[in-house]
Formats: sequence, structure tokens, C-alpha cells
Amino acid sequence: MRVLVTGGAGFLGSHLCDRLIAQGAEVLCVDNFYTGTEANIGGLKATRSFRFLNHDITAPLHVDVDRIFNLACPASPIHYQRDPIQTTKTCVHGVINMLDLARQNGARILQASTSEVYGDPEVHPQAEQYWGRVNPIGPRSCYDEGKRCAETLFFDYFRQVKLDIKVMRIFNTYGPRMHPQDGRVVSNFIVQALQGKPITIYGSGKQTRSFCYVDDLIDGMVRFMETPHGLTGPINVGNPVESTMIELAERVLTIVGGSSRLVFEPLPQDDPRQRCPDISAAKAELGWSPKVALEDGLKETVAYFRSLLPTL
Ligand SMILES: NC(=O)c1ccc[n+]([C@@H]2O[C@H](COP(=O)([O-])OP(=O)(O)OC[C@H]3O[C@@H](n4cnc5c(N)ncnc54)[C@H](O)[C@@H]3O)[C@@H](O)[C@H]2O)c1
Repeated sequence: MRVLVTGGAGFLGSHLCDRLIAQGAEVLCVDNFYTGTEANIGGLKATRSFRFLNHDITAPLHVDVDRIFNLACPASPIHYQRDPIQTTKTCVHGVINMLDLARQNGARILQASTSEVYGDPEVHPQAEQYWGRVNPIGPRSCYDEGKRCAETLFFDYFRQVKLDIKVMRIFNTYGPRMHPQDGRVVSNFIVQALQGKPITIYGSGKQTRSFCYVDDLIDGMVRFMETPHGLTGPINVGNPVESTMIELAERVLTIVGGSSRLVFEPLPQDDPRQRCPDISAAKAELGWSPKVALEDGLKETVAYFRSLLPTL
């Protein structure tokens, strides 16, 4: 099986490459290093079944593949807002290029979509039938609306040219190889605690999030890819166990130790107040549910960031 992983040098993409290589696939990893790093794929460079191509998916790509996992796109607000036009281009032009590539190859293609398509939701937890509440003109719109348009394109290629598509809506995922400066809550809290700095909580800290460990997420992704043609999704994949930001900060502090205090700052614009996946479809269609407890996943993630500490 020849598998293309776009965004393969990023956080999720590099774990996916590891998993696919371990399963015996031939992997072509494509990335433009916008947020990804050489270090994330360093362990695979010597592997014969692994190839890397430095390429931006907003330009057309011609390679022979059987499967495409389309993960290329900066995922954290700090990174996707740095160049919002490029973010929309990656979600729209990039996705059209990958869909055309799948079409030329008769390949199956999976899109790494996001819970951000639900925006700031009025229903809780969010099931796939919910259409979302998204601001089309705000600072987050390049990502939220870009990802929504990507889903539209996937379903139009499915209806119009019978492409074999899978759309996975990923909820907050964390683990080793997250970018230390990406401003996401788990990496923020851990890095601040390791550096003995105050832990920044936006808003009251009572807003909840749910966190999925990367190994669970990758398990859901590879399962979904191997489901029969026609099982398109969208399917939510995430961990439905909720924590408030204050609870998360306290857990991190217990694992890291040290004496950081909590400081409170105003919520960023359009920050969703609550987000939690309904994973009934993932359970029924993929036989998937998350296995790793937050405590265990955080310990692995803290160990990773501790190893980076001298370079932070
Ligand atoms: N991590 C999460 O919690 C989460 C949640 C929802 C959705 N997702 C989605 O999963 C995917 C991977 O997320 P991640 O957390 O690994 O983010 P990441 O930023 O670590 O990885 C994205 C990768 O894509 C690459 N990239 C960006 N634009 C590109 C382009 N135009 N051409 C080629 N490569 C490009 C980056 O260099 C990086 O290696 C993204 O599509 C993201 O939207 C992630």
C-alpha cells in the first residue's frame, strides 16, 4: 500500500507516519515545514519504506498513491492566524489539489477536519448532524470556514465523481511532538509549569474542553481509512471526558511539581465556551472509543516537553 500523508512532519502527521510504517505501508510524507519539523520525522528518515517531499499542497502534486491522508494545515490559532490567506488557500486550493490527485489515482482520501466546523456551538455535546455556529468574518474564520469549505469539496467530489472519501472531525488532541509555542492549552500549561512560570488561564477557567491522546486519535484515523467505500462520515473522533481549564491546570501542576500559580486573562475573540464530541458514530461505525486516561497521556506529554526543556 502506497500512502501519502500530507502535513506528515507535523504533530499528528508524524505519529500517523510512524503507525503506517509499523503496519508495513510505503509512506510518502509531504510537508512544507510551515509548522512541522525535521525532528518529528527524524526517526523515520533511515527507513526504506519512508520518503519525504518538501512541497506545499497549494501547488499541484503528481505522485502514484493508493491512499491519501490530508493533514496539511496549521492547527493552532497562533499559527493559522499568522498568514490567514495561506490558511484558506491550504484548506481550499490545497484540498482541491489533493482531491484531484485522488481522482487521478483512483485513491481513497481522508480529510483531517475539525471540531471547529461547529464554531461556538449551541448544542452539547456536538453530534455530526449539527451544522454549527461559525463567524464567517472573524480572525478564526480562515481556519473554521476553510475547513468547512474543505468538507464541502470532499462531498462534492463524492457526489459528482464518486470519489472514495472519509471526513473525520478531530477534537482537541494532545501528546508528544505538539509544538511548544503553539498556544494550545495543554502545551501552554505544561511548558509554563516546567519553566516555573505562572499558568495563564483565559476567561474564568470554568469553560470545559475534552482532550484526546494522540495514540487514540491515530487509531481512529487508520480504522476509518480502512472502512468500506461509501462510509464517508463525517465522523467525530475525540475524547468525550470533559475537564475545566482549572482542573487541567491542577493536574498538570501535580505531574510537573513546582510552584506555578494560576493567572487569569480575558478570553480571545470567538473562543468557544464549551466543546465536547458525541462519539456514538465512531463507536458504531469504527468500533472505536478512546482508551488512554488524561492522567497517563499527560505524563507522556510532560516527559516529552521535559526532554525539550533545554531548547525552549
Ligand atoms: N491537533 C488537534 O487537536 C487537531 C484538532 C482538529 C483538527 N486537526 C487537524 O489535523 C491536522 C494536523 O494537525 P496538527 O495538530 O498535527 O497540526 P500541525 O501544525 O502540527 O501539523 C500540520 C502540518 O501541515 C504542514 N502544512 C501546513 N500547511 C501546509 C501546506 N500548504 N502544504 C504542505 N504542508 C503544510 C505543517 O508544516 C505541519 O507539519 C490539521 O489539518 C488540523 O487542522 C488537529
